Amino acid sequence: MKLTDHLKLNPFVIAPMAGITDHSFRTFIRNLDSSVVVSELISANGLEYHNERTFEMMGYDEVQRPVGLQLFGDDPEILARSAQIVESKGVDFIDLNFGCPVPKVTKKGAGSAMLKDLVMLQKVLSAVVKAVKIPVTIKVRTGWNHETLNADEVGHIAYNEGITWMAIHGRTRSQNYEGKANWDYIGEVKAKVKIPVLGNGDVLTADEAVSWLKKYGLDGILIGRGALRNPYIFKESLALYQGRDEKIEKDFYNLLITLNELYALRCSDRLREIQLRKFAAWFSTGYPDSAQFRKKLFQSPNADSILEESRIYFSNLSAIKFKSHEEEKFLMGGHG
Ligand SMILES: Cc1cc2nc3c(=O)[nH]c(=O)nc-3n(C[C@H](O)[C@H](O)[C@H](O)COP(=O)(O)O)c2cc1C
Repeated sequence: MKLTDHLKLNPFVIAPMAGITDHSFRTFIRNLDSSVVVSELISANGLEYHNERTFEMMGYDEVQRPVGLQLFGDDPEILARSAQIVESKGVDFIDLNFGCPVPKVTKKGAGSAMLKDLVMLQKVLSAVVKAVKIPVTIKVRTGWNHETLNADEVGHIAYNEGITWMAIHGRTRSQNYEGKANWDYIGEVKAKVKIPVLGNGDVLTADEAVSWLKKYGLDGILIGRGALRNPYIFKESLALYQGRDEKIEKDFYNLLITLNELYALRCSDRLREIQLRKFAAWFSTGYPDSAQFRKKLFQSPNADSILEESRIYFSNLSAIKFKSHEEEKFLMGGHG
């Protein structure tokens, strides 16, 4: 099946997130019906210079398919060679990051800085597409700043270079994570370009995922932070999209048990605890007494006690039928 065919069956996809969409999390979220999965951003220079940690980031499991690895870099030749290394690992596609706003990345011309130099961006796309046989996708922001919105131009270039899809985080680089994602602009771009477009930014509910997909005629929706609060969002969105009137029972404690098992397979105890604490805190976002719960989490000395605190908190929540999330911001920074 072609990569884009997966979107036709299920247009809802987990957004790449550094420190989150690692090997374990990709298995977790794919099993919860993210249509495809993508890794955290991986440095092309790290692969070029044989950095061991960078190579480790390329691991994946068969259950994750279709799985893509995301590369970032500033040099077309190095990116092309890195893409060949990625392809040799047998993954289904390569995603290129042109959205990262972090100065360490942009000051070398990588990530969102590439949106200021479309000649270079075109060279990168051409070099990478020529270097590999698997599909290449891209993830961009709407532009460098409000005066230079250019995702439409990027879309034309990408289409001509044979890129498979373009995901747009609806903020400029200057906005970082402030303000709201500009979905109207994403819709304008979609109407102008031939390349399939996935919209991204601030999707928190299945209603939003399905209604923005339809309203803007998009090919897919990328969900990041919304899936950290509610990993069931993919199942909920898909049910709504397919017109199935299905109530999906939330069991956050059970999700934490699954995450614990997955992290135990490949992380140190310390990293497993850090990740469990973060997820338990994110799942509680917007629910009653979440501040007290988070305090307890941060006082919990090990994974067992984090799980026990979570069992108590989430079983109390299910008794009050998970009242809908209140507006509560979190994770206002990242690599895309
Ligand atoms: C912690 C964190 C890490 C991120 N890392 C990446 C990354 O490695 N690559 C990327 O393209 N985008 C990255 N992003 C951006 C997300 O993919 C997404 O574009 C952004 O969070 C907006 O979508 P959301 O509102 O659904 O979270 C990251 C975002 C966060 C919050």
